[in-house]
Amino acid sequence: MKVGLIGWRGMVGSVLMQRMREEKDFDLIEAVFFTTSNVGGEAPAEGRGVRLKDAHDLNELKAMDAIISCQGGDYTTEIFPKLRGAGWNGYWIDAASTLRMEKDAVIILDPVNHDLIKKSLANGGKNFIGGNCTNSILLMGLGGLFHAGLVEWVSSMTYQAASGAGAQNMRELLNQMGVAYASVADLLADPKSAILEIDRRLAEKLRSADMPTENFGAPLAGSLIPWIDKQLDNGQSKEEWKGQAEVNKILGTSQRIPVDGLCVRIGAMRCHSLALTVKLKKDVPLSEIEALIKGGNPWVKFVPNQREISVRELTPVAVTGKLDVAVGRVRKMELGPEYLSAFVCGDQLLWGAAEPLRRMLRILLG
Ligand code: HSE
Repeated sequence: MKVGLIGWRGMVGSVLMQRMREEKDFDLIEAVFFTTSNVGGEAPAEGRGVRLKDAHDLNELKAMDAIISCQGGDYTTEIFPKLRGAGWNGYWIDAASTLRMEKDAVIILDPVNHDLIKKSLANGGKNFIGGNCTNSILLMGLGGLFHAGLVEWVSSMTYQAASGAGAQNMRELLNQMGVAYASVADLLADPKSAILEIDRRLAEKLRSADMPTENFGAPLAGSLIPWIDKQLDNGQSKEEWKGQAEVNKILGTSQRIPVDGLCVRIGAMRCHSLALTVKLKKDVPLSEIEALIKGGNPWVKFVPNQREISVRELTPVAVTGKLDVAVGRVRKMELGPEYLSAFVCGDQLLWGAAEPLRRMLRILLG
């Protein structure tokens, strides 16, 4: 199978390349590397000596059996219709939101919706699109409960990492931390200095023009930003809107499961977390609920609802760079026996972006 790779040099693309190398995916395909900026340049070794091809050359793209793009929504919006218009009938796999909600597209998260993917392939489906990272992580964590048909609705409060906004944003977060620290370093070095003086000086710095905020539009270090993506007319952010739309599409529900909540950017690097309130359809014993969650998929790392282990293992720092999706704080709420709380944490560059793409390729390869 000839597989064209586009956007392999960016952040998500680099994670994809790393995972494909680890899993030896390149041994099974003829990889052709495309570029938007360096046509004729040297491709990675996996390209077996073929120079970089032009990502805007429809004829070169048409020669591919499958295309995996991490180039972003603008590229998909520009190229995909032209390519289909020119009669290309290969598999399009990307991680952009452009095609996600199209009727003929499947949102790919195979540990959760393998059946839906297989059904689409059997019906001639060609467009397979990675989901929004927050929703993929939610379903990787609690897929077992959804599959058991127990979920009536979900309130999803998110704590989203800088990486979801892009590589530049991760750098900006660290630069903000550096400016913040530097503003009080001398006072911190003196154990007898007054904490309220440190706090006053820091707050002044965080609010000042010295803070680099070009990408986030506000200080994130020492703070948070309670809005992610565009503003919609109904008061939701676009990120919040995606919750219900994508969760139901991924699951292929015939009866819509309401999902809503607030999406918040916090100062983690690349792990998104979600604090969830799940309204169950009936009162089910906690032991049964735990078994369902653990059985959801092999990557669920169930963290018992105990302080010490939660503080150690249910955090972005513990989960970062791993395929594990940590699920913890699972307990019945005081709201009633059908109300469940849970906290889910996953690496948004892995399950939230790159991993479903390479696994889709594996499904195509049989
Ligand atoms: N939209 C997500 C975020 C990232 O901003 O965190 C990718 O789905």
